[in-house]
Amino acid sequence: MKSKILVLVAFFAGFVVSPALAQMGDGGAAKTPRLNTTDRFVPVIGRNGMVTSREKMASQVGADILKAGGNAVDAGVAVGFALAVTYPQAGNIGGGGFMVIHLAEENKSIAIDYREMAPSRAHRDMYLNEDGSVDNDRSKYGALAAGVPGTVAGMVHALENYGTMSLAEVIKPAYDLANDGFLMYNYLQSSLNGRKERLMENEAAAKVFYKADGSSYDYGEVLKQKDLAWSLKQIMDGGKDAFYKGEIAKRIVADQKAHGGLITMDDMAAYVAKERPAIVGEYKGHKVVTMPPPSSGGVHLVQIMNMLENDNLKEKGHNSAATLHLYIEAMRQAYADRSKYLGDPDFSDVPVAELTSKEYAALTRAQIPTDKSRRSTDVAPALNLIAESPDTTHYSVMDKHGNAVSNTYTLNFSYGNHMMAEGTGIMMNNEMDDFSAKPGTPNGYGLIGGEANSVQPKKRPLSSMTPTIVLKDDKPFFVTGSPGGSTIITVVLQSVFNVLEFDMNAMHALAAPRIHHQWLPDAVMVEEGVSKDTTDILKNMGHVLAPMRFTLGSLSTIMYRDGIFYGASDIRSMDSGAVCVD
Ligand code: GLY
Repeated sequence: MKSKILVLVAFFAGFVVSPALAQMGDGGAAKTPRLNTTDRFVPVIGRNGMVTSREKMASQVGADILKAGGNAVDAGVAVGFALAVTYPQAGNIGGGGFMVIHLAEENKSIAIDYREMAPSRAHRDMYLNEDGSVDNDRSKYGALAAGVPGTVAGMVHALENYGTMSLAEVIKPAYDLANDGFLMYNYLQSSLNGRKERLMENEAAAKVFYKADGSSYDYGEVLKQKDLAWSLKQIMDGGKDAFYKGEIAKRIVADQKAHGGLITMDDMAAYVAKERPAIVGEYKGHKVVTMPPPSSGGVHLVQIMNMLENDNLKEKGHNSAATLHLYIEAMRQAYADRSKYLGDPDFSDVPVAELTSKEYAALTRAQIPTDKSRRSTDVAPALNLIAESPDTTHYSVMDKHGNAVSNTYTLNFSYGNHMMAEGTGIMMNNEMDDFSAKPGTPNGYGLIGGEANSVQPKKRPLSSMTPTIVLKDDKPFFVTGSPGGSTIITVVLQSVFNVLEFDMNAMHALAAPRIHHQWLPDAVMVEEGVSKDTTDILKNMGHVLAPMRFTLGSLSTIMYRDGIFYGASDIRSMDSGAVCVD
């Protein structure tokens, strides 16, 4: 009778009572997964580590490295190279990105900037037509759209300084996947079909991604990438110099020259990955460790969290109109600031301390009206939000020692500039489009940038990538990040709020519908799943809703509590995967 009452109490309390815990009785100290009995979404659960990414073969590579005794950095670097093979639309060695690491033993956080760099012959007006208008095609497609790639330098920097394995060991799984091939899977197949027309214009890419007669690989057929395998072998044997000074560099530069690009051997040799002081926000007893400029992600994540820190979001309710109104207005402020102040800190002073200060947050929070929306400009709102695929990619890794890696990297759009450097198998980025080709006019994501983000030789374009590790008691509690171009910051923000404010588990925090506002265009994107009652209230407050043409982001996250890893890869994304180490 007594045990029946206990079960009933637990049932109505909606609390954590797993069968295992119930069997153990009071004295049980064994590790037990903590999930609410009311949770409709359940993460992958692991005891000895976790890897989550946008593509599950790459997640498996990371988990295998952890099982073989590697740490989170070894696994993170292995996943980075593997995604370049299995997820070629965004995984890359021809692009760049950002990695945030937390080392358990030293209780130290590191931020590595391996963003692409403008070639030394780049100049402010290189994407303008004679009449001063922006040539959008030139900054997005073709050789001129590419910046000097940073991924190899970033991965090697992370491994040499914080890993334990050799470069050859962590690249080998990627090499095998490229050389022996892997089975064509649903998402890659549909992505290659969608991009066929443009990719077929580039002979090298056409040869790799499509058959000799021009037809597509079918689901389950083997895709081999022999040239990419050659490049990976060069790096395994020759380290980063093989990429930046050796035969790979020569082939990339020859390809650039043949197609009117600007990247030279000197540009390649001059590239360096940079460690920068991580941004560390304080939020209700947690530390939010995230990426500083040249990504805007960390600045605005912390800025928005600060603005809403004293609002009782839980009481207002998850995705209620009152909560979403506050999200939208805080996002509006942050993206307005982004357009003016953010850029490469090596070229202009970025007021990071001011933008992430509690004082500035209080000042700007006070300007948000309670019950009505503000307008971003006096101009009529533009509802034509950009539908270009925002194919950056993020992965998260944690090992059994408590080390964590949060990495977001990209070619910018899917398949970057749609050009493979002949003889390398390497897709090149179109990251130059993240500069403001003409300050004040929108880029490919509809984002407005200022002078701080104008094109300059050797400058790094502003990003929105937001790899983040939330610490509780100085230990990683939630590792998060997402692709999504301009939407990255707001997607990551909502994953963090869902966990910290609304006590959601890792999977529930991803599954919940999301919204996005970026100041201009002045329209809020609302995913399917937010009720009509709620959107009606928002409209009555004056918010303008944009038509939705795609979902927002694709999170890959890990939560760690009480010795157990909870992994979640976004249920919005076909073929993504969380792989645990048991
Ligand atoms: N290429 C997208 C970003 O860096 O924000």
